[in-house]
Amino acid sequence: MGSRFDLVIRGGTLVGTNSLGLADIGVCDGKIAEVGSICASAACEVLDAAGLHILPGCIDSHVHFRTPGLPGKETFETGSAAALLGGVCTVFDMPNTDPPLVDAAALEERFRLAKGAMHVDFAFWLGASRTNLEWLSAGERVCGVAGVKLFMGASTGDLLVEDDESIRAVLEAGTRRVAVHAEDEYRLRSRFAHRRVGNPESHPKWRDAEAARLGTERLLRVAQATSRPVHVLHVSTLEEIPLLAASRSIATAEATPHHLTLAAEEVYAEFGTRVQVNPPIRGRKHRDALFKALREGLFDTLGSDHAPHTLEEKSRTYPESPSGFPGVATMLPVMLEHVAAERLSLLRLSKLLSSGPARAFGIQRKGRVSAGYDADLTLVDLGARRRIEDGPGISKVGWTPYAGMRVRGWPIATVLRGRVAMRDGEILRAPQGRPVACRQSPS
Ligand code: DOR
Ligand code: ZN
Repeated sequence: MGSRFDLVIRGGTLVGTNSLGLADIGVCDGKIAEVGSICASAACEVLDAAGLHILPGCIDSHVHFRTPGLPGKETFETGSAAALLGGVCTVFDMPNTDPPLVDAAALEERFRLAKGAMHVDFAFWLGASRTNLEWLSAGERVCGVAGVKLFMGASTGDLLVEDDESIRAVLEAGTRRVAVHAEDEYRLRSRFAHRRVGNPESHPKWRDAEAARLGTERLLRVAQATSRPVHVLHVSTLEEIPLLAASRSIATAEATPHHLTLAAEEVYAEFGTRVQVNPPIRGRKHRDALFKALREGLFDTLGSDHAPHTLEEKSRTYPESPSGFPGVATMLPVMLEHVAAERLSLLRLSKLLSSGPARAFGIQRKGRVSAGYDADLTLVDLGARRRIEDGPGISKVGWTPYAGMRVRGWPIATVLRGRVAMRDGEILRAPQGRPVACRQSPS
């Protein structure tokens, strides 16, 4: 008798939508075929998951893989390998590359470069500018496009749409959820004098909490006025929490592992420009309030904001040093440590990394372990005790601000559309990532 399944994952604890429980998972043609009690003899291949927890394949909807144009920092191949090692099955890649993703030719080139290079499934964010509105509304409907990304405040690269009128024009030109970097550019410009040469601790004084609050407030106002759904990226202040809580019908929100984990009082002295990021790492009171809001369900997604720069670039004197650091490989380990410390339930963490982004962006066939869905699975060992270390598994740049951090919990295997793509820290296959379909209009 022929095997009923291509792969059966046996004996693991499935982290489901509402509860955890032992379950075997049968896979056929890259899709989940059955969840329940399955006999091993029904499978061509068996993956023993005894003692492991199985999450729906993790989705990181915020990475900067630097292709094209910045291969010294990252490439599709190196960034997506780091994703697999971190238990991530799907990434949404940002447009602030060289050249930036702002037109049809650049999008075509992106797809060409991703083919045979991406180890994980992917979609691209299109960069909003004042002059590409017509293309944005057509481009956001292309399969493999995540939506439109808008920078209200200048960061790495030169994509910027800072005034209300232009933001409104972008929001009026389309229907799908727009992802926004919401720091108020005018306030940032008015506070340049707060930057202290050689002192990255002044970074959050320049890009202060008020710049983030103002940016988010202005964005939400325009979103309400235009009825266009938005996604507020990397929320970093306690002042944004009530604004977002009052705007749930129009706005989803992203938390990052670094704004939930690092605090200004603890990191600038030790790590300097390595922890320089936009929006900045702020004081403990912001971190702790964000974590409380996360527990209470304010956030829809977790994004790593994986934004690698070389150590050589990072060693320039502040403020010449660039903002951002790698994160796609460390997102899950860092958050599993929060689970181990009982700051967050595994169920909530799993939602933020699967059904949350799937719902916010209308990702098709991903985000849950259920018959008919893509067989994307992240197997974690909650009992593993590891130390996060610098190295090639982090990113092409090979360093992480979390180096030395001890964590309890680690991704042991990553299954992408039914194929074991990573196991025990090894990438087992050539790149097989494909573009992800997102529904036209999110509910
Ligand atoms: O710190 C950051 N780095 N924030 C951004 O918005 C962009 C990112 C990058 O691309 O380096
Ligand atoms: Zn980013």
